[in-house]
Amino acid sequence: MAKVRDSWGTRLGIIMAVAGSAIGLGNFLRFPAKAASNGGGAFMIPYFVSLFLLGIPLMWIEWTLGRYGGGFEHGTAPGIFHSLWRKNRFIKYFGVIGIFGPLVIFIYYTYIECWTLAYSFFALFGKYHSITSQTGMQSFLRGFQGLEHNAYFQGIGIAYLFFVITFIVNIWVIYFGIRGGIEKLCKWALGILFVFGFLLMARVLTLGAPNALNPGWNVTNGMGFLWNPDFSALKSAKVWLEAAGQIFFTLSVGIGVILTYASYLKKGNDVVLSGLTASAMNEFAEVIIGGSVVITAAFVFFGPTQIGDIARSGVFNLGFVTMPLVLNQMPLSGLLGFFWFFLLFLAGITSSISLAQPAIAFLEDEFDISRKKAVTLFGIVSFLLCQPAIFFLGRGVVDELDFWGGTFFLVIFATIETILFAWVFGMEKAWDEIHRGADMRVPKIYKFIIKYITPLFLFIILGMWFTQEWLPIIFMRNVPAANQPFILATRIGLLAVFLTLAVLVKIAWENKGRQVQKV
Ligand code: PFF
Repeated sequence: MAKVRDSWGTRLGIIMAVAGSAIGLGNFLRFPAKAASNGGGAFMIPYFVSLFLLGIPLMWIEWTLGRYGGGFEHGTAPGIFHSLWRKNRFIKYFGVIGIFGPLVIFIYYTYIECWTLAYSFFALFGKYHSITSQTGMQSFLRGFQGLEHNAYFQGIGIAYLFFVITFIVNIWVIYFGIRGGIEKLCKWALGILFVFGFLLMARVLTLGAPNALNPGWNVTNGMGFLWNPDFSALKSAKVWLEAAGQIFFTLSVGIGVILTYASYLKKGNDVVLSGLTASAMNEFAEVIIGGSVVITAAFVFFGPTQIGDIARSGVFNLGFVTMPLVLNQMPLSGLLGFFWFFLLFLAGITSSISLAQPAIAFLEDEFDISRKKAVTLFGIVSFLLCQPAIFFLGRGVVDELDFWGGTFFLVIFATIETILFAWVFGMEKAWDEIHRGADMRVPKIYKFIIKYITPLFLFIILGMWFTQEWLPIIFMRNVPAANQPFILATRIGLLAVFLTLAVLVKIAWENKGRQVQKV
């Protein structure tokens, strides 16, 4: 007899879980870095256009498709796509991306998440307190990451210890399941995260103009850096690509995670208002908290030119170099540093558990094994897969994983699911399905947007990539020669993981075929 699938305990539970997945390191590290390196206000128009034309439609599509697939006991894309288009034997293989993508992000994301836990302790115990310069803080980070031996760290040991702790906590939460683990954690973690976020925001917004030599480097101008629109950048394809990419990443859409979470809903549960609420919480955390804390703090201490340079010099520099330096200059700096890094940790863990869930749901649903077995298997395999990201960070492995898992496949997968939903399933049926049990109606214009504009936008993004970014990436033109073997090995490894998952899909469906014949 098939076992009963897990389900959400309360409506607030799934909203918090999806918001938890969405609110992550992307909101507080990636967003400020992308916004600052693309000129602040120049970034925000493409960002909001992408939110309304890609992000929110995809959120509704995924909640609806996930709930639909859950009705057939499928929590991941292979089964969900198959339920939508039964006549097509291949569509389930496209669904492999919906397990592969989250797994790839999980591999490097958990490692970065462990830095935030480590830095929470460093802040509390004053380990970086005496450092006063960018270069000093940069060496501290590089020493910690095992990229150089220096006065602060002699190897990767401490980072590895924190990785193992972070990994175990992740697996432990998932072990307790949807209702008993994920839902509980997210409710608590988001609550604390918002409190810390407000405290930091209050501190940063009352900084005034701390640099006596540059009175223009003040809070008002810092906010203006992000919020004064700059229309000149609308012509730049790069800014559009980065803004759209940020929307995907921050909302956790286009990758299969929301599909899985929504598959634990019941048929009559609302998806319209819940999806919108989760998106709104994410945007608040990103542009209001992430934007005003990091961008403003960096602006008032380093000014409009340097903030862009810092952000362009590496995505972690604002969060792990600038923020601790800025907070160091304030009273109670240890505590403020702890608020900042522990906020990051909470944001990170509620996202990484969501990244693990598709692979686990796939094993549970399609191979009919228990959650405990599925989690154990996932734990062992993913632990091994994390190792290259840890030990070859300096060789560009994390960037490579982020490109495929966190950028490229998101757009591909989003395109497939939008076409399936609006065109194969059919927009009329899709519209009814979205509104099943809904607490509010989606504005009618979205019927048009989902059918035409979202897919068109996605095709334009893919087209821009093909013409502008692809060849150099595929041929590793910007990768130093010494790193190329590592990048190549990463690609081969990724291909092997993808093919393994595809074979598992094949086996699962063959098993199902046999069971049906027996009956
Ligand atoms: N949304 C998360 C963040 O902003 O950090 C990252 C993420 C989680 C991306 C889950 C994709 C995903 F499926």
